[in-house]
Amino acid sequence: MKPSYEEILSIQRNVDIVDIIKDYINLTPRGKNFFGICPFHDDHSPSMSVSKDRQMYRCFVCGASGNVFNFVKNYENISYYSAIKKVADKVGLSFSYKEKETTINPIQKKYYDIYNYASKYYQNNLKTSLGKTAKIYLKNRNITDDMIKHFNIGLSLNDNNLTKLLLEKGFIENELVEFGISNRIDNKTYDIYKNRIMFPLWDINGNTIGFSGRIYDSNQDGKYINTKETNYFKKGSLLYNYHNARKEILKENSVIVVEGFMDVIRLYSINVYNVIATMGTAVTKEHLNLIKRLTNNIILMFDGDSAGEKATNSFIKEAENESFKISIVRLEEDLDPDDYILKKGEEKIKYHLKHPKNLLNYKMDFLKKDLNFDNSKDISKYINLLKPELEKIEDDIEREVEINRISKQTGVDSKLIKSKLKTKVKQEKKEFIKDKIDYKTNKYEKASKMILYFMLKNNDLIDYYYENLSFLPNKDDNLLANQMVLFYKKYNCFNLNDFITYLEDKSNLINEILQIESYNYKINCNKEEIDSYFKSVKEYIKNKKIEELQIKLKNETNDIVKKEIAKQILDIRIKGV
Ligand code: UTP
Ligand code: MN
Repeated sequence: MKPSYEEILSIQRNVDIVDIIKDYINLTPRGKNFFGICPFHDDHSPSMSVSKDRQMYRCFVCGASGNVFNFVKNYENISYYSAIKKVADKVGLSFSYKEKETTINPIQKKYYDIYNYASKYYQNNLKTSLGKTAKIYLKNRNITDDMIKHFNIGLSLNDNNLTKLLLEKGFIENELVEFGISNRIDNKTYDIYKNRIMFPLWDINGNTIGFSGRIYDSNQDGKYINTKETNYFKKGSLLYNYHNARKEILKENSVIVVEGFMDVIRLYSINVYNVIATMGTAVTKEHLNLIKRLTNNIILMFDGDSAGEKATNSFIKEAENESFKISIVRLEEDLDPDDYILKKGEEKIKYHLKHPKNLLNYKMDFLKKDLNFDNSKDISKYINLLKPELEKIEDDIEREVEINRISKQTGVDSKLIKSKLKTKVKQEKKEFIKDKIDYKTNKYEKASKMILYFMLKNNDLIDYYYENLSFLPNKDDNLLANQMVLFYKKYNCFNLNDFITYLEDKSNLINEILQIESYNYKINCNKEEIDSYFKSVKEYIKNKKIEELQIKLKNETNDIVKKEIAKQILDIRIKGV
């Protein structure tokens, strides 16, 4: 049996939306509300507000809004009841209702099922006698059983058993090929991954969506091979370990970004958890947006070699205009974090992580390498390149210290350097409210929306509507109004957060009520005004009826029936509906 509204409400009453959303995005208090980067659109500054009083969230830019269940449902892309279960679990309440996942599309579900199965299959291989050599390899690399388990590391064998098993389970060949699990050559289907240590790759919610397979005992080409790009596996939006690290990143309010997933795994072994990896690809806007949801503070710790330096610089270039605070660790001796920890030990890397260079100092060190301070042109170039960094420093004293340092280095008077800097004018944040009433809609539609709006803001109008109109022309509007009446009659009060829960999973109605709620319109409404909206709606219904009858009349051949219809039309004209 479906859970009752009351049962769901009891969960809702026992959670705080701010606590729940805090597990997903970084929220900062401002005034009465909390603000964060909206996860539902390509957001660059905190546009989402979360209200403790109202227990609702709303994005001022994209309009995404709802209550705690809607947030979890939309963020995790899961069904409504799964979202309720998630929320209940988080606060230790029980909610046992399970339903078929209907919101997720069946192909995507298949994709997840296949990858989930494959991941378990690979993990199991590693435990069998055929996994002996691979286990030795892992052991030699100091990868413990705990690390293997935590990161679901597995093994592909030199056979085609995965394909075979998946076919036996009823998946079809085309899908396996299309999803990047199998290959077809000369009408035979083969496993793509052979003889590799398998690292599952996850989406931001922890679903396995691909693999990276590493050679370990042969001379195959390519150290790692990755799943091909599919609709669900896109390297440009994938950050290794994001779902595992999310909580820790929020807690620490900083993220360590490394190149390789082996670095993540090694850092985990020394209890550093707020780490994600770009997996050797150039950082994208999507990556940065995923990070920004959680924190503004990035510690970049790419490989110590020159490729790592290049990658560091291009990361900085992509991210520095995005309000991040970036600091940098450069490891000695060309080492990557994994090797560094093994070679130099835990304490040394932890020291680095505690004392990363800020962007200005990093740039100073980096630029110095290629410039000659005996050359005035080089000095001028140096100072000009550092200018933007100096301008960003908000603290006066800190800025002064850095200016003096540069002055000492170059021999240029600090007053002159200072005079070159633009003082920062704090930008006023513009929050624009998108969803005003669209005046392109016709008079009657507008009247319907206004009726709903005022019912929402002045709950006694719900009864007034029921007694004096009780019908709206648009199907959804009408349904919504009916639900409001039912809810109000049953509970004798009206609260949007509860009402949304009452609407269960009727997302079209939920979206509509939330949109209407956001109209930037006066709150109070006198009887005359509401009556005039009622009148518009009645007029619309009347015209519509007449129109229908006129068409009927035109198509009717029987004179007696024709007369009857004409009389009906006249009646409506005189008496209304
Ligand atoms: P690295 O070459 O730095 O890998 O590539 P690593 O972390 O040091 O790996 P080990 O220690 O040799 O096992 C960094 C990342 O680039 C991607 C992988 O995601 C890797 O984690 N990469 C690298 C590939 O996709 N293919 C490759 O052939 C190499
Ligand atoms: Mn390495």
